[in-house]
Amino acid sequence: MSKHDEDIIDERGDSRLGEDPRSTATAGPVQIHPVDLGHIHVPTPVMLSPMAGVTNWPFRVICEEYGPDGLYVAEMITARALVARNPKALRLCRFAPSEKIRSLQLYGVDPSIVEQAARIVVDNNMADHVDLNFGCPVPKVTRRGGGSALPWKTDLFTEVIHRVVSVCGPAGIPVTAKIRVGIDHEHETFLEAGHIAQEEGCAAVTLHARTTAEYYGGHSDWSRIGELVERLDIPVFGNGDIWGADDALTMVRETGCAGVAIGRGCQGRPWLFADIKHAFEGSDERTNPNLGQVCAVILRHAGLLTEFYDGDERMAVHDLRKHIAWYLKGFPVGGTTRKAFMECENIADVKRVMDTLDLQAPYPQRIIDKPRGRVRYAKKVHLPYGWLESRTTTHEQRETLFGDDPMDVSY
Ligand SMILES: Cc1cc2nc3c(=O)[nH]c(=O)nc-3n(C[C@H](O)[C@H](O)[C@H](O)COP(=O)(O)O)c2cc1C
Repeated sequence: MSKHDEDIIDERGDSRLGEDPRSTATAGPVQIHPVDLGHIHVPTPVMLSPMAGVTNWPFRVICEEYGPDGLYVAEMITARALVARNPKALRLCRFAPSEKIRSLQLYGVDPSIVEQAARIVVDNNMADHVDLNFGCPVPKVTRRGGGSALPWKTDLFTEVIHRVVSVCGPAGIPVTAKIRVGIDHEHETFLEAGHIAQEEGCAAVTLHARTTAEYYGGHSDWSRIGELVERLDIPVFGNGDIWGADDALTMVRETGCAGVAIGRGCQGRPWLFADIKHAFEGSDERTNPNLGQVCAVILRHAGLLTEFYDGDERMAVHDLRKHIAWYLKGFPVGGTTRKAFMECENIADVKRVMDTLDLQAPYPQRIIDKPRGRVRYAKKVHLPYGWLESRTTTHEQRETLFGDDPMDVSY
């Protein structure tokens, strides 16, 4: 039995060789295979989905400690900011020594700028894997034709991928693309975008199965992930609404996707990566830390963030505040105490507030595997003028778009 064969396990831990994983799209055992992105071997096909303001290296390190062997992607870096050597962008490109696979995500609209950013990544050995953002629904981004608006313009979409793969490919750096279903259900792009990504040499595609219009509301329609899996030969990571390890198993079972990408489900719950690893290995073991154990994670997170901010505890604790709110979700912690956490300026403040907590409080069962993070619909999809009128860009449109490509975008 080869190493690869040994890695093929179902959820009961039995070895199930020789079956097409896609034949398990209906109820039945789940087959989990390692995924190879070029020469990068990902033993457990679980990805920490890039989240701006969240997946900097301190959070990635904590997630990876719980679930080693996955892929932990940094938040999106604006290509233009990287090309300009913007210090904030450069900070977001940092990795901790313990990170096994350095995954960066680039965002941009102008193919030549994204190519230059990729060149910087390659020449400075800044990453082992580059993901491209075609999924961002934020008005500031889509209004300029970026993120989830871009696949609609097939010429631009193809060119961005082509140029990045041309730079990263020879350096042995696999490129992947993260997409949504489309702009709305009248303007779906995912099948075509997945196909283009494959043809242009992407090593995998991640599909967040919502449209731009759906933003983070409603449900990720996993049947669309199944459709994409059927059409492509490269691995598809399914994304959207995985709140617990069983959701991850269900997504793989229902769609045949090669792997799963986790966003909001791990906010304040980095141990979800341990749970998913266990589930993929056929174990029922789950992590339900009590409040004291969660506080220990918070303090470790605070320490790592202080390193990330070069010793600036105030910046670290400001960044930490939202994580504290997520970590404490569902625990019996009163409004006054929560407010006190939000006013902390340094780690001593955080510890002082922690001293008032009942550290023995068990993990709140009612929030296990329940949605967390933002869940709202977009009020309106913002697109460049006349964007939907054709599938390609005119020279004039490009000039306007590229001149307007922002330096600093955030989710
Ligand atoms: C706060 C926040 C920031 C995000 N930032 C990014 C990003 O930088 N790049 C990206 O491709 N997706 C980003 N996303 C989208 C997530 O990666 C993911 O696709 C989405 O949240 C759906 O997955 P989930 O249901 O598991 O959360 C972000 C999502 C959230 C909630």
